[in-house]
Amino acid sequence: MQFIVEPKEMQAVGLRLRKMGASPALVPTMGALHSGHLALIQRAREEGAPVIVSVYVNPLQFGPGEDLAAYPRTMEADRQSCEAAGVDVLFAPRTLYAADHSTYVMEEALSSGRCGRSRPGHFRGVATVVAKLLNLTQAAVAVFGWKDAQQLSVVRRVVRDLDFPVRIVPVEIQRDHDGLASSSRNRYLSTEQRTRAVEFPRILEEAARRPDGCGWAAVELSRMPGVRVDYLEEADGRLCGAIWIDGVRLIDNFPCGA
Ligand code: PAF
Repeated sequence: MQFIVEPKEMQAVGLRLRKMGASPALVPTMGALHSGHLALIQRAREEGAPVIVSVYVNPLQFGPGEDLAAYPRTMEADRQSCEAAGVDVLFAPRTLYAADHSTYVMEEALSSGRCGRSRPGHFRGVATVVAKLLNLTQAAVAVFGWKDAQQLSVVRRVVRDLDFPVRIVPVEIQRDHDGLASSSRNRYLSTEQRTRAVEFPRILEEAARRPDGCGWAAVELSRMPGVRVDYLEEADGRLCGAIWIDGVRLIDNFPCGA
């Protein structure tokens, strides 16, 4: 596995791969890799093309007061996971932005509700870094999880609107043994918080089968101690939700009517 830190070296490798006729598949991540990321990598490998995993905690998608400083950074473990998963290139830049960086990608319709409402500027940060990663890796395919359903829609729209020559491949949510959607942020939960957190997917899954799903889930979640609902909404044929458990924000979704 090749380990690349310099963005320009990544771009040279991407261009070389394309010149050789390869169609690299990118799995963009912020590291702290878990089973959800491994499923994305597995899906990328099924393309039969070189697999590039990027690990970069993108400061642009964190708002003031969010967990940028605390976000888990586990580079050595990530490197070993990528090696074991058969990744061809691990791209882990120290930074992707020039000190006087002043160019952004803004999607202005799909970014505005749900997570975009409670995390202003988040999707501008995501869209900008994804555009940069696509340019740097020259990916022909990029794999994203349904866990971040709104991110997936925004990325698809940006790719369509700006004519990026890349195919976006979605992968279904991976869940831990207790049903909680795999997420790097799960490690913020204490054992006690986790026992409450697992009720969230249980309620959302049941709600997604009901015609009055959002209202029903709101009532169920309001009964849980220390839980605050950020949003419950149907989008992209899925019932999507975000909650706070004490100070930890969790998002999840289930296909409606399944
Ligand atoms: O989903 C994530 O981990 C991030 O939002 C992404 C797509 C890697 C961009 O930083």
